[in-house]
Order: sequence, then structure tokens, then C-alpha cells
Amino acid sequence: MNAKIIDHPLIQHKLTLIRDVKTGPKEFRELLEEIAMLMAYEITRDLPLEETEITTPVTTCKCKILAGKKVGIIPILRAGLGMVSGVLKLMPAAKVGHVGLYRDPETLKPVEYYCKLPTDVQDRDFIVIDPMLATGGSSSAAIELLKNKGAKHIKLMCLVAAPEGVMLVNKEHPDVEIYVAAVDECLNDHGYIVPGLGDAGDRIFGTK
Ligand code: PRP
Ligand code: URA
Repeated sequence: MNAKIIDHPLIQHKLTLIRDVKTGPKEFRELLEEIAMLMAYEITRDLPLEETEITTPVTTCKCKILAGKKVGIIPILRAGLGMVSGVLKLMPAAKVGHVGLYRDPETLKPVEYYCKLPTDVQDRDFIVIDPMLATGGSSSAAIELLKNKGAKHIKLMCLVAAPEGVMLVNKEHPDVEIYVAAVDECLNDHGYIVPGLGDAGDRIFGTK
């Protein structure tokens, strides 16, 4: 099982708050945005830099800036939407594509209902974002869809994963690095992560 667990104390603290059943939609959304921003900080650690010359009020000097790498963020609808603003705070120039998938409640297989990607898919590095990696079917399908459109560099960023989901993405997309805040114990009979945080989409949008 291959996933990078981002165990920064701030993320772990906020993750505990977000798991709590007493946390309502407003606080849930705020925490998810904050965690997404902190995780994005870690996931962008290897962005390439280049040198530029600037003039400070004191003198001129050579400094580092980002080497203009094009980044695309792909939230999986709906719950991935809750992480977009946090990531964009760190990378405001990133383009955002959307992939709409829902899990069929009987089969737990992902059903695609929407896809709108940046036009220059081949030239971008992508971060697929979804708070939940349960069976792994949705994330794996979103990655497959991106690859079929020509994407070559993809990372997956989730909040909570089940071992089953990590292993499925590892198997189907060994080239994709997975970043998570926690890998939980297991899935229950309904495909929910245990202990997890419940249905992320419903908790973000207050639909249950
Ligand atoms: C949730 C979640 C993931 C998916 C994870 O979405 O946001 O996309 O389930 O499960 P999987 O790893 O087994 O595929 P859901 O299908 O509930 O749709 P929603 O975000 O619209 O509520
Ligand atoms: N989707 C969710 O929102 N939560 C889970 O635990 C599993 C899938």
C-alpha cells in the first residue's frame, strides 16, 4: 500500500474536528478548506523553481520564482468542490476542471455524469482532489478519464482513505502519487470508511 500520509499536527487536529459528528456544515466547510490548503503546501513541495533578478529597495539580487509550471486542479463532484478554494489560495493561477461522478448505491461503482477539463490537458500537471477514497472506484475512474484525454502527470489528494481505495489506485495507476491525511481501518458493508467522517458531500452541503 503506497500513499504519503501528511501527518502535520495542524492537519491531524483539524481532521479530528471534521470527523466529529457534532461538526455542522459551516464548520465542516471551513475545516475542509483549511486542510486542503495545508495539504496543497505539502503536495507542491517539488514544484520546479528558476532564478530571476529583482530590485529590492536596497539593491538588485537573484531570487527564485516558480518555473511557470502549468497546474490543473480536478475536483470530483460533489465533495471535491469543498477542497478547491483551499488549493486555489496557494495556486491562484491553476485551472480548475470538473469531473462529475457518483457511486451507485447498490454496486458502489462510479457513474460519470459530467466532465469539463482545461483545453491544454497534455501540458499540465494535475491534482485530482476528493475528500474520500473509499473503494477507490471514483478516483481511479477520474484518473483514467484524465489519462484518456492526454494527461501525463497526475497526483491524487484525499483527506481520508480506506486501505482498499489506496490499493485499487496503486494497482490501476501505479504512476499516481497518493497524498492523504489518514488511512483508516476499513470499509463497512455500505462502502463507508470506518471510522471515516460519514458522507462528505452531505456534510459539506447539508443535504442529510
Ligand atoms: C463520495 C466521495 C467520493 C466517493 C468515494 O462521493 O466524495 O467521490 O464517494 O467512494 P469510492 O472511493 O468508493 O468511489 P459520492 O458518490 O457520495 O458523491 P457526492 O460527492 O456527489 O456525494
Ligand atoms: N463516500 C463518502 O462520502 N464517505 C465514505 O465514507 C465513503 C464514500
